[in-house]
Amino acid sequence: MSFDTIIRNGTIVTASDAFRCDVGIRNGRIIAMAENLDDADEIIDASGLYVMPGGIDSHVHLAQPSGDGIVMADDFASGTLSAAFGGNTTVMPFCLQEKGSTLREALKAYHAKAEGECYVDVSFHIIVTDPTSHVLGQELPALVADGYTSIKVFMTYENLRLRDDEILATLDSARTSGALVMVHCENEDAIRFLIGRHEANGELAAKHHATSRPVAAEREATHRALSLAEIVDTPIVIVHVSNREAMEEIQRARARGSKVAGETCPQYLMLTADDLDATELEGAKFVCSPPPRDAESQIACWEGLQNGTFDLFSSDHCPFRYDDDAGKLNEKGKRNFRWIPNGIPGVETRLPILFSEGVGKGRIDLNRFVALSSTNHAKLYGLYPRKGTIAIGSDADIALWDPTKSVVITNDILHHGADYTPYEGLAITGWPVRVMVRGKTVIDGEELIAEKGLGTYLARARSPLV
Ligand code: URP
Ligand code: ZN
Ligand code: ZN
Ligand code: ZN
Repeated sequence: MSFDTIIRNGTIVTASDAFRCDVGIRNGRIIAMAENLDDADEIIDASGLYVMPGGIDSHVHLAQPSGDGIVMADDFASGTLSAAFGGNTTVMPFCLQEKGSTLREALKAYHAKAEGECYVDVSFHIIVTDPTSHVLGQELPALVADGYTSIKVFMTYENLRLRDDEILATLDSARTSGALVMVHCENEDAIRFLIGRHEANGELAAKHHATSRPVAAEREATHRALSLAEIVDTPIVIVHVSNREAMEEIQRARARGSKVAGETCPQYLMLTADDLDATELEGAKFVCSPPPRDAESQIACWEGLQNGTFDLFSSDHCPFRYDDDAGKLNEKGKRNFRWIPNGIPGVETRLPILFSEGVGKGRIDLNRFVALSSTNHAKLYGLYPRKGTIAIGSDADIALWDPTKSVVITNDILHHGADYTPYEGLAITGWPVRVMVRGKTVIDGEELIAEKGLGTYLARARSPLV
């Protein structure tokens, strides 16, 4: 047998095993795993490195308008470049349906944004904001057949959220269509009430973003989403869970027999509401929804990653700049937290944080790291076993990790379009030192090797959960 590439002397790590062997790659796929493979155009020496499936980040926002004319800091080029430098080989951004438009129109616009721009593979979830009978009756079933097999609905944000009857109708259509539904759970009416009260009291600083979105608003909406899903017998994913009470809702729903997946993100392990308590725009840089909570919530989220409450660890990368032509918005955001765009960057730091804080500090093992960062995303969203593992027949989407490499996170080592990282100064042990997408090296050390356009669009199978 001859190969395009052989990876030698590394330790292969999958969601279930860790073992030593060589990996033989041809035409972008893994075609052999054995000792002493020979005969390749390129031999990569992975001595001292882990050979892991490339990260799959199933929750990122790229080039998505945020209302108010605010432009997101990453397009598909910079966002997928940053993803690759962070050890990822696939990302799943959102395609936002504008009210009054169809899902097909939305997809056309986002495909145009992504076409020829990507450094890693991509696949869209569709955000449904206008669930008309055409959308739910005609479009969704046809889109699932075309490989668009997941959607997201919002219970918060004035312009995006669906009411309970709309959520029920959407879930009902998802069940018959075979789509998996991700739900953003926060009680919009409660949040509007609390924002109004803060404004009446002149409490306008960034920190009030957190107090206007309390745990109870997330817990209540999580319970409601799970109840609505149970009523129409539809599996759902509860995304970006921030605290124990919302986790307990997931656990209780599972105990009742519901099919539900759970996701948490780095911000809920590493940040707290105190980070929003800073002057001017420094606090704004930590504004995301749900907001980061407190030290006890961080402990709870780690437990959830350990005990299976969470299947997914995603970034919810949603980058904004605070230094330039977003200036007008910044002026508004400085005056009142309600105008601060929601979201923080994190696609490049997700995996190093989970590796260093999780594996390095003994909270999770290497197999759980791979499951949470790659394999479970591929499985849940219909890409497995093409993606998400190191196995014969799988795409050669591989990240080589140096478990001893020390890096201090600063914004200037990152490749995203944001002008800051919420993790500035965080010391990390363990970093991806080479990243390959379908057998092609994209990143080697600090160096970008590939051209943009290498990443392709992935149609997906139905989720096994539905
Ligand atoms: O604040 C956040 N999370 N922004 C991104 C949009 C979303 O809700 O996921
Ligand atoms: Zn959300
Ligand atoms: Zn998000
Ligand atoms: Zn660099």
